[in-house]
Amino acid sequence: METQNRSIISAGLKSLSSHLHKINRSEVNYIKLSEGSAGKLHGLKESIKSRFKTEKINAPASTKSEFIENIKSKVSQSKEIRNLGTLREKLVFSSGSPEAKIMFIGEAPGQEEELQGKPFVGPSGQLLTKIINAMGLNRDDVYISNIVKFRPKIEGGNQGAANRKPNNDEMRISLPFILEEIEVINPIVVVALGGTAMQGLLNMNETISSARGELHEVQGAKVVVSYHPSFLLRSKTPNKDKRKVWEDMLLVMNLLGMQITEKQKNYFK
Ligand code: URA
Repeated sequence: METQNRSIISAGLKSLSSHLHKINRSEVNYIKLSEGSAGKLHGLKESIKSRFKTEKINAPASTKSEFIENIKSKVSQSKEIRNLGTLREKLVFSSGSPEAKIMFIGEAPGQEEELQGKPFVGPSGQLLTKIINAMGLNRDDVYISNIVKFRPKIEGGNQGAANRKPNNDEMRISLPFILEEIEVINPIVVVALGGTAMQGLLNMNETISSARGELHEVQGAKVVVSYHPSFLLRSKTPNKDKRKVWEDMLLVMNLLGMQITEKQKNYFK
């Protein structure tokens, strides 16, 4: 199967390369594809995708950890991020298991995360931990990260406890790194926590309430959109909103084929 895949990909790439060379030598400045060729190209893309996916699924935890360390080091050395000048110095990368089947992704670290060097350890993080525990899991069973890996600066320098949402440039420049993390972890489900994570990962500007309940996709993983825990902490109708988040988590548990107890089904009802 492996050899067959390899030869299909190699034959496809050779024929594509010779076709592109011919076009390059001619006066034609466009590529006309028949339906059949378009279909073949699509097949080739899927074949390449599945080949790489197989390798990732089989990657042992130690290899995944090395890949993750590598991404972390690329982020810490990124001149593009530094040159923005709008993010603080301390890198807050990810936490959790490289073997996780669920990834929780938030927006950016806040004060407490910056102090401890770990994502989601402040008030929002404590609520996220409770949600994870209610699912019958620990933080070590999942992988937790953010779109932006440095705490956004607030103009004037005297930041104190104040946090702000990352801006579009900060998100655009940071996005390739979280996409690489998803590729390496290869989770079954990604939970996008809040509007910033949704916008960054899915390029969607809708409200969370309209994007909830639908399944989205990124890097081959299913994406469930839910409210950010900080929204629950500020909510004037906490039980109603906690129930909505809990429904999203029941969907995640279903997607993972996890057992759901009667008690779990009825939380916040
Ligand atoms: N909010 C986030 O989005 N991420 C964190 O790590 C902490 C708070």
